[in-house]
Parts: sequence; structure tokens; C-alpha cells
Amino acid sequence: MAAMNSSVKILNLPMHGDFRGSLIAVESGHEVEFKVQRVYYIYGVKAGSSRGFHAHRELKQLLVAVSGSVNIRCEDSSATQEFQLDSPEKALLIDGLVWREMYNFSEDCVLLALASDFYSEDDYVRNYGDFKKMLKELQPKASNFAA
Ligand code: TYD
Repeated sequence: MAAMNSSVKILNLPMHGDFRGSLIAVESGHEVEFKVQRVYYIYGVKAGSSRGFHAHRELKQLLVAVSGSVNIRCEDSSATQEFQLDSPEKALLIDGLVWREMYNFSEDCVLLALASDFYSEDDYVRNYGDFKKMLKELQPKASNFAA
């Protein structure tokens, strides 16, 4: 699998564990660079359902499966990569024009998203053709994934 650059990458979140159990903290400027303006979570996804199928123009997001597991396919100008989030200690940072599809949700999956901005439909690119067109307009530009 190709290595990833700083725009789309897995982060290992530090866990504070003791005899009582585990705790993970995510702070702006520490574990995540951007200022977190919004938190949402996806859960109760029906078996076989997929979500996402969009890119964002400006939004940065950090995704964590705080319970269960999910697969996330990310595509940018030069690469498509599959990630599996299967631990609360593993986060996927998505920053840049990246088409994402989330699938294979386990029944118990709770997918937490920390976002750099408030919800705005204007920031979504929901049409795949438009996304491909936007990528072309941006070229030549380095992939969001490392070579
Ligand atoms: P959507 O982004 O399409 O979900 P997904 O990418 O997981 O398939 O959002 C589903 C609905 O929820 C849509 O009507 C917009 C709304 N929504 C909000 O109101 N606020 C939010 O922060 C998000 C992410 C979605």
C-alpha cells in the first residue's frame, strides 16, 4: 500500500488507560491541528448500507470508530486508498479535495467525526463528475497521498 502524505492519514491517538479502563482525548492544536467547530456521529447504519459519496471543498475532518468498525475509501487526484477504522485509538484525518465512501459498517459501529467548520451544504461536492472536473482544474497538483 502506498504511503500517505499529511492530507489523508491514519493517526494513532494516545490512550490513557488504567485499571478502570481507557480514555482518549483529542484537542485542537495537539492531536488534531484544526480548530474543532462541530462534532457529529453516525451510528445504527443498516447492514449493507454505504454513506458518504461526496468530497468537501474546504472542510477538514478527523474520523474515529469509537465502537465497532468501518471501511473508508478515499480518492484524490492520483490515488484511491482503503482504510479500516477498527479501534478507538485509530483516527483518519481527511484534509483536501477527497472523495470518500464509507462502507462495511459493523452493527455496533459508532463513527465519530470532528470537523473544522459548521455544517454547510455549500461545502459539499456530491456529484462524482463534478469532483473529477474539480480535480482536473486543480492539476497539476500533488496527490493528497504520499508517493
Ligand atoms: P450526509 O452528509 O449526507 O451524510 P453521509 O455523508 O454520512 O452520508 O448527511 C445526512 C443528513 O444529515 C443530510 O440531510 C445533512 C444532515 N447533516 C446535518 O444537518 N449536519 C451535519 O453536521 C451533517 C454531517 C449532516
